[in-house]
Amino acid sequence: MKVVVGADHGGFELKQKIIAFLEEKHVDFHDFGTYSMESCDYNDAAVQVAEAVRKGEADRGILICGTGIGMSIQANKVKGVRAALVHDLFSAKATRLHNDSNVLTMGGRIVGDEIAKAIVDVWLNTEFSNEERHLRRVNKLEK
Ligand code: RB5
Repeated sequence: MKVVVGADHGGFELKQKIIAFLEEKHVDFHDFGTYSMESCDYNDAAVQVAEAVRKGEADRGILICGTGIGMSIQANKVKGVRAALVHDLFSAKATRLHNDSNVLTMGGRIVGDEIAKAIVDVWLNTEFSNEERHLRRVNKLEK
């Protein structure tokens, strides 16, 4: 599985922790930045990550800003992207099973490092349920 990662200044520190976690788990990833705490627009990394997922250059994306909200709003404007804002383990699993989310967004100012790593672990390792009702609803999202 190929994962693309992005953040703004509000998510930079947590992104670095998540990258270290992906390395530890031998997950193939590309980091679209940002690469420092300098203020920047969350929109830019969100579009880069979302476009990589839309084009099939990556299977999944992870986006982190201060709240995760700007990232999710922006990423969801890209067709074919189903971005889920997640701060708990139940939602991490449910959004994969039910929504087949292909982008995960989190808030670096909201969630702690350890829970964020656990969320990433569950989200990356849960397959879509493929149940008829969930498939029907996911297909409706694309129309
Ligand atoms: C940046 O201060 C902050 O607005 C941004 O990281 C994010 O939380 C927006 O949704």
